[in-house]
Amino acid sequence: MRSPSCMSPHHGGHTTDAQKSLPLGVNGLTVFFWSKFSTPSAAFAEELQRANPAWTPRRLPGNNKVVHSRLEEQYYLERDEDTLRLLGLNLDDNEDEESDDKAEKIKNPNSLQSGKWQLQGLQAAMSFDLYAKYGNNRTLSLVSPKKPYYQWRLRVPPGHIVRLDIVTLQGATPGSCSANKLSAYDFLLPLQNKIIARWCGLPLAGSSPVMKLTSSGNVMLITFSFSRQRHGAIFKAYFQAIPKAECGGFLSAWNGSVMSPYYPAHYPPNVDCNWKIRAPLPSYLLSITIVMLDIQDSPTSSTCEKDWLEIGGVRLCNPVGDSSRKRIYSSPVLLRFHSDESLTHKGFYLVYRAFSPESTCPRQFRCGDGRCIPLRKVCDGEKDCEDGRDEAKCSICKPGEVYCGSGQCRPHGSQCNLQVACGDSSEEANCAGKCHHMCPNKMCLPKSSVCDGIIDCKDRSDELNCTRAFSKGCSPTSYKCANGKCVNKVNPECDGIKDCKDGSDELRCGCGTRPRRRAKIVGGADAQLGSWPWQVSLQMERYGHVCGASLVASRWLLSAAHCFQDSDAIKYSDARAWRAYMGMRVMNTASNAAATRQIRRIVQHVQYDQFTSDYDIALLELSAPVFFNEVVQPVCVPAPSHAFTSGTSCFVTGWGVLSEEGELASLLQEATVNIINHKTCNKMYDDAVTPRMICAGNIQGGIDACQGDSGGPLVCLERGRRWFLAGIVSWGEGCARQNRPGVYTQVIKFTDWIHQQTKGQV
Ligand code: ARG
Repeated sequence: MRSPSCMSPHHGGHTTDAQKSLPLGVNGLTVFFWSKFSTPSAAFAEELQRANPAWTPRRLPGNNKVVHSRLEEQYYLERDEDTLRLLGLNLDDNEDEESDDKAEKIKNPNSLQSGKWQLQGLQAAMSFDLYAKYGNNRTLSLVSPKKPYYQWRLRVPPGHIVRLDIVTLQGATPGSCSANKLSAYDFLLPLQNKIIARWCGLPLAGSSPVMKLTSSGNVMLITFSFSRQRHGAIFKAYFQAIPKAECGGFLSAWNGSVMSPYYPAHYPPNVDCNWKIRAPLPSYLLSITIVMLDIQDSPTSSTCEKDWLEIGGVRLCNPVGDSSRKRIYSSPVLLRFHSDESLTHKGFYLVYRAFSPESTCPRQFRCGDGRCIPLRKVCDGEKDCEDGRDEAKCSICKPGEVYCGSGQCRPHGSQCNLQVACGDSSEEANCAGKCHHMCPNKMCLPKSSVCDGIIDCKDRSDELNCTRAFSKGCSPTSYKCANGKCVNKVNPECDGIKDCKDGSDELRCGCGTRPRRRAKIVGGADAQLGSWPWQVSLQMERYGHVCGASLVASRWLLSAAHCFQDSDAIKYSDARAWRAYMGMRVMNTASNAAATRQIRRIVQHVQYDQFTSDYDIALLELSAPVFFNEVVQPVCVPAPSHAFTSGTSCFVTGWGVLSEEGELASLLQEATVNIINHKTCNKMYDDAVTPRMICAGNIQGGIDACQGDSGGPLVCLERGRRWFLAGIVSWGEGCARQNRPGVYTQVIKFTDWIHQQTKGQV
């Protein structure tokens, strides 16, 4: 609006009626106003108008445009000026506010409590203007109020905000806002939409601070109005200037805290803050705990429209229950805080912590609520985490890969270096150590699979450059003595003849015998006690016999990895769940066993692939060694060069079911099976038989291992009348079907692995 040059009552008989509104500028206050003139006669008005071009406001010495008298305030504008700056522009902080210099007071009229005047529409009101420089602590107090309305207009220098600490408040009538009320505004006028806080009820009496408020700019208005009883009302507060704080920022630390601006004072109205929290290392997750959240007026409203805190895209404004205080986020996480222009609260206080996902869910996937689920349940099409996180990012990863929850995909496969799909790097490092050769597709091969004449890597890299290896070592079919010399005789080990110069082929031969030799499986026969003294029954307390195993040393059993894969309900991988029964023939009670042992640990082959059954082998360490006797004896573990030639007849033994739909045997069964050529077997099984497998059975069907025999031995008698472990019962299509022989883990492929894992005890 355009203001005419200001008139004053000097022009006799007419009145001035100035209305002011006070928008807040960044640099202080700018006053816009307009004036109304009334003149006693039209002639006088005409005269005024005529005089207007020449008429100039009374100029004051210097450039000060304010005249201050005891009775009224007069403001003059320069010609062509339509705004008049009144307040605190770039206030001089060095100014001594107690100065007697009148000009200083005029220039900064609000630096002192500037007295009283009548407010429009309010009879008999009291108004105080208070100004606080940074470092000052000014007091607002009201004891036995005489007027129905009081207001304090608080100002601080630009770049600061007003912080009000209410210490005493009595006399705001409980329950009714139409009666007494104390209000704080984020503005110098009592605008409804600028209320920061309001008390209608009676707040706590006492000396502890009732509340701490902050403004968004450098002003605040406090009003206390009484419509009825004002007797005994007491109000006391302090206010001070606080440098305006920037909020938000980038945080990267192992732990820390984030809080609303000026916490624990009420946050200011009209702020927006953004934080980005990043874990200091990649693949770490962030755990955020909300310690305090007080943002919304009515905790019943679920929509967060006014003020809110957003964490990782989720808006919060209501108090949080204990169960949802702590959540896990992938790094980085974005935090946003918004407050609108009215009604503020205490805000929020939260703490964060970066952690490695592996440390809480080793070898497992971590759901949003912190629960751990097996990796195989990730991206399997079924929601296992309550928050669906296990299926959420499946499209990010290629088929066969698993999403680790920390942004990376890892192969779900069976490879050594990759088996611990979301495992920590130390395990991978270990694995890399065990990895004798790595194919370009990252498949890891043990030493025994390299230069063994079988191509394992697609690019043949495991069988290239083998001439040197052969000349240095022995050919795959020749036996390698301890001194490195090669013996070309077939299966020279433990045959009673010293073939190696160092005699190593006849060392460690306390195996594979049946001291009690006087002595079903599908199509088998009952075995005599002591016929198969290495046969072990692996049982679980609640489920009885589950798998077979073979005793290979006083402390070690060899079995199938597939026996120890967890199901939804049963934790088969938990060593504590198992008992090993040795020297047993009649299955049922432990008293039938010559020895019982607990399992100290289960060493599954890290390359075991549950989809292909490749590397289906596991070593079990017994809690204590067993003593060998007539019915408890270890079987011989064949040298890598050992040949179990096709056509040889061997035995498979176990308590497995007697037919596909049948029941477990109560007497140990034995069955003669023939070793079947690898190629022949692969023809029958559509190339599902890997180099780590060996087939045995009867092509016509009728004789085979079956469910419950798994992990048990396939043994062949060698020349020295010792039994060697050729295979471990692994899989087959049905049982004893025609052209579907049993498939076993080929032990000679794991001889080195067994020696390594048992540290030479086998
Ligand atoms: N996987 C079975 C088990 O858990 C053994 C299957 C052997 N099958 C066969 N036809 N040979 O007991």
